[in-house]
Amino acid sequence: AVVLGLALVGGALWLYSDAKVSTVGSTDFSNELAVPPPAASTVKSDGTRVFDLTMRAGEKEFRAGQKTPTWGFNGDYLGPTLRAKRGEKVQVKIENALGEESTVHWHGMHLPAKMDGGPHQMVAPGATWTPRWTVDQPAATLWYHPHPHGKTEKHVQRGLAGMFLLHDKKSDRLALPDKYGVDDLPVIVQDVKFDGAKFDHSRKLMSDTGFLGDRTMVNGTLDPYKEIGDELIRLRLLNASTARIYDFGFSDGREFALIGTDGGLLEKTTRMDRIGLSPGERAEIVVRMKPGEKTTLRSFPQDNYGDFWQTRFAGGDDSFDILQLRAAKSLRSSPELPATLGELEVPDESDSVRGRFFGLRTSGINGKKMEMGRVDETVTRGTAETWTVRNEHSTPHNFHIHDVQFRVLEVDGKEPPAELRGAKDTVFVPGNTTVKLVMRFDGPADPDTPYMYHCHLLYHEDLGMMGQFMVVEKGEKAGKVRTPHAHA
Ligand code: C2O
Ligand code: CU
Repeated sequence: AVVLGLALVGGALWLYSDAKVSTVGSTDFSNELAVPPPAASTVKSDGTRVFDLTMRAGEKEFRAGQKTPTWGFNGDYLGPTLRAKRGEKVQVKIENALGEESTVHWHGMHLPAKMDGGPHQMVAPGATWTPRWTVDQPAATLWYHPHPHGKTEKHVQRGLAGMFLLHDKKSDRLALPDKYGVDDLPVIVQDVKFDGAKFDHSRKLMSDTGFLGDRTMVNGTLDPYKEIGDELIRLRLLNASTARIYDFGFSDGREFALIGTDGGLLEKTTRMDRIGLSPGERAEIVVRMKPGEKTTLRSFPQDNYGDFWQTRFAGGDDSFDILQLRAAKSLRSSPELPATLGELEVPDESDSVRGRFFGLRTSGINGKKMEMGRVDETVTRGTAETWTVRNEHSTPHNFHIHDVQFRVLEVDGKEPPAELRGAKDTVFVPGNTTVKLVMRFDGPADPDTPYMYHCHLLYHEDLGMMGQFMVVEKGEKAGKVRTPHAHA
């Protein structure tokens, strides 16, 4: 049923339709899953790994004979997968060949504020921006996407997003599936709607959480299937949708192993059969296949929840068949998954030296809308803090913090579910719910460039559900915010 409603959101009045959709059972899985190509890189004499990314317009045939105008990195849609090792120096030469300014943000990366690619590192049309940093965090599934203030939703939904995979000595030694594109698959999930050949991003489709499409794609492939040749398959799930929240599981209810979340591997391999991801969140899961069988990665209707988040995932009650896995008649055997994966590098509550509170509403955070020139919070380099984030109304939100990975201490005063016990940089905050987080700010201090924290439902972010924090040396004050643009 189509319900027409008036949503009063952030002072804007939109007429939106709230149609529930389901593609379960209606998907024919006729397209082979595209795997984003590994990004080419060169290594300079000082050991720096150098990547090149060009942001550009293109067109892509998602459906035969229909050419959809798109944006992409080095191609028509999405971007190549960057890969680097802990300790490595990396440099990315970013060329903006779009007709308008944008940025590239390294979501989940611990790096100096000037390299972060947030709204203060704008790249003008025709210009090049070359951030460089040393990878100083554990193996993880990170991603990159534009972050121009007020336009992030538009830039991401046109196709600008890609993965950035980190590995380290420990992850290299663990017996985990790691043949990229074979038994280690990026799964970039987005919802879309077409109007003829074009994407339909019209305001008609807006809910109070933002754009909701009526079908999903994985890695830019509609109705995707993947032939599997190994017993164990690692799926690196990324919710790259701008607003939609998914509850992933398999069509036959089979269990999978959760091995990692946003910031890297968990301490222990954990068996489960559902995992919820809000926009920006990642999960690494491993699923076991038998010869000749098929199973479908599905997003389930969220009112079916039998677990911790029961009925609290709102904003997407809809169900989607996401990706079909088809096992070959004979499969290469995979080593058993290790039960223990490593130690989390996130602080404990006892490390925290101060607390802060963030009240979330669509109209702003702590009653304030984002302002580029205002520093909302100043933190001391080298210290850990406890941030309490409360969703103060019933609209779903989430909360993402740049530069750090945090530990979720509590959800409404209770111990978090298994999927929130790893390192996280983004956490779902259902309506009228409070999450308590602890994180350490140990990057370099920079008194003129802030990092962001925000709701990663991109419509909300663009409306101003974002704030800025600066990391300074002990006793120092935050300076004036500098916003240098890279010009052509
Ligand atoms: Cu993925 Cu501030 O963003
Ligand atoms: Cu929000």
